Amino acid sequence: MTGAGRGIGAAVARLLVDRGAAVCVVDRSMSQLELWGNAPVARVAEDLSAVPSACRVVEAAERELGGVDVLVHAAGVLKRTPFFEVDVENWELHLRTNLRSTFFLAQECARVMRRQGTGGRIVALASDAWWTGGYDGSLAYAASKGGVVTLVRGIARELAPLRITVNAIVPGLVDTEMLRGQLSPVALARQAAAIPWQRPADPSEIARVVEFVVSDAAEYMTGAVFNVSGGLLTY
Ligand SMILES: NC(=O)c1ccc[n+]([C@@H]2O[C@H](COP(=O)([O-])OP(=O)(O)OC[C@H]3O[C@@H](n4cnc5c(N)ncnc54)[C@H](O)[C@@H]3O)[C@@H](O)[C@H]2O)c1
Repeated sequence: MTGAGRGIGAAVARLLVDRGAAVCVVDRSMSQLELWGNAPVARVAEDLSAVPSACRVVEAAERELGGVDVLVHAAGVLKRTPFFEVDVENWELHLRTNLRSTFFLAQECARVMRRQGTGGRIVALASDAWWTGGYDGSLAYAASKGGVVTLVRGIARELAPLRITVNAIVPGLVDTEMLRGQLSPVALARQAAAIPWQRPADPSEIARVVEFVVSDAAEYMTGAVFNVSGGLLTY
């Protein structure tokens, strides 16, 4: 479970632990994982914007847990930047952290799942920005999330013969640091006002959808893009 240090990733990991799953929580540093205290989880600190990290994360998870049946990739970055100020560094930060990591984590986990021969579940967090192109300086982020949806669709076909499902979760606005950290109160109110459900999601509401997608009930669902946006997007 990546991005488990806070926000959506922490909520998903907590729910899976509550349901009795053996979970490996992954984030950028051990200090980022402090909220896990003495909880019975494996911990891995890696910067997922670097390619070899995918290999190290999956190796560590397999070693600690004795196997890998599920990958939920929620680690992600959004550094809001106006269009004319987007530079190569900003562009690459989003593409490396959000998109490239999705490919290589999925590839490494699928190798383990193939060896195990018992299928598996891969879930990537995309964003409504994949569809809208993003608002308020999130163009590079939106492009990376568009790539995540494309990857999920393609990898789903590759891995279907191995009975590994691959799906994307598309939240709209979720009440986390990522949402609140960089938007002015006016921009936040404007974005929130566009949600028919009239409020951002709580991270636990995204976690419950992930719980379903990794469950046996979702066995026949792969290559899907789960819109969990309170009606902000309708497709
Ligand atoms: N919050 C929202 O409104 C919203 C909406 C749509 C999609 N999402 C997506 O959901 C996912 C989780 O978002 P969130 O709101 O919980 O974000 P968040 O910023 O609150 O948490 C993200 C976590 O990812 C970790 N992370 C970031 N870069 C990393 C790296 N290079 N290596 C390892 N860990 C790294 C952070 O340390 C943090 O713990 C993200 O992929 C985000 O794009 C969020």
